[in-house]
Amino acid sequence: MVSAWHDRGVLPEVIAHRGASADRAEHTMGAYELALEQGADGLECDVRLTKDGHLVCVHDRRINRTSNGVGLVSDYTLDQLSELDFAGWHQNGAGAPPGVLTLEALLDLTTARPNTTLFVETKHPVRQAGLVEAKLVALLERFGLARPESTSDSKVVLMSFSQRAVRRCKQLAPAVPTVLLFAPRAPGRKDGELPGYADIAGPGIRLLRTDPDYVARAAQRGNPTYCWTVDEPADIALCQRLGVRYLATNRPARAREVLRAE
Ligand code: G3P
Ligand code: CA
Repeated sequence: MVSAWHDRGVLPEVIAHRGASADRAEHTMGAYELALEQGADGLECDVRLTKDGHLVCVHDRRINRTSNGVGLVSDYTLDQLSELDFAGWHQNGAGAPPGVLTLEALLDLTTARPNTTLFVETKHPVRQAGLVEAKLVALLERFGLARPESTSDSKVVLMSFSQRAVRRCKQLAPAVPTVLLFAPRAPGRKDGELPGYADIAGPGIRLLRTDPDYVARAAQRGNPTYCWTVDEPADIALCQRLGVRYLATNRPARAREVLRAE
């Protein structure tokens, strides 16, 4: 096995996947606030566009699983989504403020806290090709996060499973780092090389279990690794041993604990 010489001794950054989403309803302000209390270094969210062009943090195309409404996110205006309850479905969701979380509100939280990184994933923007990325970069511009001379302590990283989406993000905001996410069997990714518009490799943990040398191969090509979604203690420890740079987890408190003990 190729040794993990590149980042040995450097702890992976703990990135809270949809917030501390094992303990709170995903993509709610409560989940993100708890993640920061639990010691997360960064936050992850998915974004989709509402009918009236606002970026909201929702994973699925439909709101059925995570709210008391039904149908496509893109068929609702922001005002309509704000009337729904996106927390009550979770066992710890009672009493949480209802309404959908906007990316703008999450950026407010991120930038209010020094040295916090927000990883924003655009979700398969087929119908609205290009619009999601354009809106996203315009919002980052407003927060002063899209330019190299940004004075903010906080950072944003843009990512997607869609190569076209990652390329568009890089074209629109060259100074903002990008992650190309990919499934374990994605063709042409296993050598650790990335297209020029991607800065960080984004494999799932299943790939690293079967091909642990991947992280070193990517590092030898100058690409750090962002690994998702890493909840099991053995996987968290594996990521540390291999030199994974960013570890996305639903359980930031557990990740902190394991990384401390390793
Ligand atoms: O952080 C990347 C990971 O979130 C990708 O999978 O389905 O949870 O968005 P998914
Ligand atoms: Ca995601």
